[in-house]
Amino acid sequence: MARIPKETVDQIIHHADIVEVVGDFVTLKRKGQNMWACCPFHHEKSPSFSVAPAKGLYKCFGCGKAGGVVQFIMDIEGTSYVEALKYLAKKYGIDIQEEEKTPEEQLVQNEKDSQFIVSNWAKDHYQKLLHESEEGESIGLSYLMQRGLNQTTIKTFELGYSLDQWDDLLKAAQKQGFEAKYLEKTGLTIVREDDPNRRYDRFRGRVMFPIHNVSGRVIGFGARTLKANDKTAKYLNSPESDIYHKSDVLYGLFQARQAIRSEEVCYLVEGYLDVLSLHQGGIKNVVASSGTSLTESQIRLIGRYTDNVTVLYDGDAAGIRASLRGIDMLLEGALNVRVVLFPDGDDPDSYIRKVGDQRFKDYLEKNSQDFISFKTRLVSQEAAHDPVKKAEAIRDVLQSIAKVPDPIKRQVFLQQTSTTFGIDEQVLITEYNKLVKKDSQRAAPGTSGGQSNSGGVSGASSRPPSGSRPYSPALTTSNQQPTTGGLSPEEEAEMAMYGASPDELAAAGGSSAAEADTELEPVPDLQQACEREVVRLLLLYAAQPLTEDMAVAQYIFGQLEETPLQTPIYADLLHLCRQEMEQGRWPEVRTFIQHGRSDIRMLVSDLATEKYELSPNWSTHQIYVPREIDQLQQACDNAILRLNKVNVQRELAVRLEALRHPMDELALLETLHTIKLLKKMDDDLGNMLGTVIPRGAM
Ligand code: CTP
Ligand code: MN
Repeated sequence: MARIPKETVDQIIHHADIVEVVGDFVTLKRKGQNMWACCPFHHEKSPSFSVAPAKGLYKCFGCGKAGGVVQFIMDIEGTSYVEALKYLAKKYGIDIQEEEKTPEEQLVQNEKDSQFIVSNWAKDHYQKLLHESEEGESIGLSYLMQRGLNQTTIKTFELGYSLDQWDDLLKAAQKQGFEAKYLEKTGLTIVREDDPNRRYDRFRGRVMFPIHNVSGRVIGFGARTLKANDKTAKYLNSPESDIYHKSDVLYGLFQARQAIRSEEVCYLVEGYLDVLSLHQGGIKNVVASSGTSLTESQIRLIGRYTDNVTVLYDGDAAGIRASLRGIDMLLEGALNVRVVLFPDGDDPDSYIRKVGDQRFKDYLEKNSQDFISFKTRLVSQEAAHDPVKKAEAIRDVLQSIAKVPDPIKRQVFLQQTSTTFGIDEQVLITEYNKLVKKDSQRAAPGTSGGQSNSGGVSGASSRPPSGSRPYSPALTTSNQQPTTGGLSPEEEAEMAMYGASPDELAAAGGSSAAEADTELEPVPDLQQACEREVVRLLLLYAAQPLTEDMAVAQYIFGQLEETPLQTPIYADLLHLCRQEMEQGRWPEVRTFIQHGRSDIRMLVSDLATEKYELSPNWSTHQIYVPREIDQLQQACDNAILRLNKVNVQRELAVRLEALRHPMDELALLETLHTIKLLKKMDDDLGNMLGTVIPRGAM
């Protein structure tokens, strides 16, 4: 076991400045005595992570993580104490006096440490081959040179080369005494199918691009083939491992992070080569999503360093279309997004090599445009002569606007959009509000894990964005999500359990019907009956399993996600049940029978004693009368289907009524479209209800 002498440990801790160390991972802002940032350990939108320089400590008031410099590195990297010390020693140029250890001894550490160590070793191995082997130099290095990369760039990114052999890395690793299982776990080798005792190298005859995590440790590789005609993929990448989660990584971030901070913007490109060329050209604040579409955690990662992202695209339309969704996610991450397009056929790498560094930078300056304006123009061109497409396009843009957290910006964008499309601003605002309202209904409190497995029985149109904001011309709109409402879940639950009124509940952000149904029209009997049945099944059988991993409560919540209940008391009971589940308990009659609200107590005791109605599907068979509990899947399915059907019919009635009043062209198109969809749904639901629904077939 590696031992680091006490004096060295003291020296490391003495030298390591907590602000510097933490500052490599988040951008800290001073506020009073302490520094603050959004916590790198959990997802949050406003900073609750603080560093106290004088005490040498960090603490997150959101998730509770806290400690000193060494603990911070252990937390953020998931490494052992010793590895964290080594990281800090390296950062501060402190020599660690250890006895000579074989790699095997080094591996007596934690699982992640071992994978880091083997990856780092492989990186060194590939690097040595690139610069020192005949094949590496003549094939690998000359290729990189021919791509215009210089030695500094090649060294900065620790590029390497894998020999065109089956077992070069394997043999070298064995010689070093590495355990085969770590080569396997990091994906450097692959087990042979015909003989599980034998393995071979994954990467052969390729230029190697080590992928670093934020602190500069190698966690995986991208590997480019050099054969133009090859049948194999241009790039091979390391598989997922304990240390490499593709969706959490941005290529080049380690090399870019300081520049991103000082330039206050992050350039986002697609490929490894784009990163390298731009970095070499003096644009060091650049990272790549490496060919996959952008993920939420990648966006959060950028957000640790800056609020500004500029996406650099190659010019082809298909590529742009494909990325639009990813960019909407950037907006949602509260980032300011700009876009630069390159002339058709060029990507950032080819373009900077064509025009040179300075002209490239000028090009970025001149051609960067705000994302929403860019998208508005793009879709308005595409839809210019087709009114149906145009309505689609406008809704599409409105969805993007809904993701912008800043209300003033939202208003500016709405104005712009109105100009670009030549549509009255008021019409847009109405449309926008409809979209957002639908959305906030759907974003009602989260359900625990119920999978929706009934095709096409829910909402009326495609799902609008989550977390979008209501628009108010007075700009006083709050950004709060419907679920938070200023109370903690505990407070909310407490309020409910001790007899809060429906209004209070609604004010606290609960999914009471008062919120969903602003008109407060009486709820029709049929609707009430359907809702009652769903709530009854939920209350009586919540914990009963339907499948191996799903109980009735999870199933029902999963199915109900889209539409809130209209009857206030049922909506309230549903909400209480959901809160119970959020607290880790199944909803139970005996809990609610003691509830503070007398109407809830009565309802619950009624439901518990009510004789259930037999489904018509079974009674016609007349063979035997099954107990309800034996037919839970059918009972749930029927209840949900019926409820969905009345909901669809209600929506339909609203649209048909609307048709009787004058409306503009856009609204008319939308309404007709929706009516068509709803009718289809109504039919489908009728068909499903009309047949005996086999278990699990929905
Ligand atoms: N990519 C991948 N697997 C592939 C193709 C691409 O993982 N079969 C990823 C790589 O991360 C690559 C990125 O997608 O960097 C962008 O692809 P592309 O533009 O084709 O590659 P470049 O990096 O630009 O490489 P080159 O210029 O050499 O073609
Ligand atoms: Mn390229």
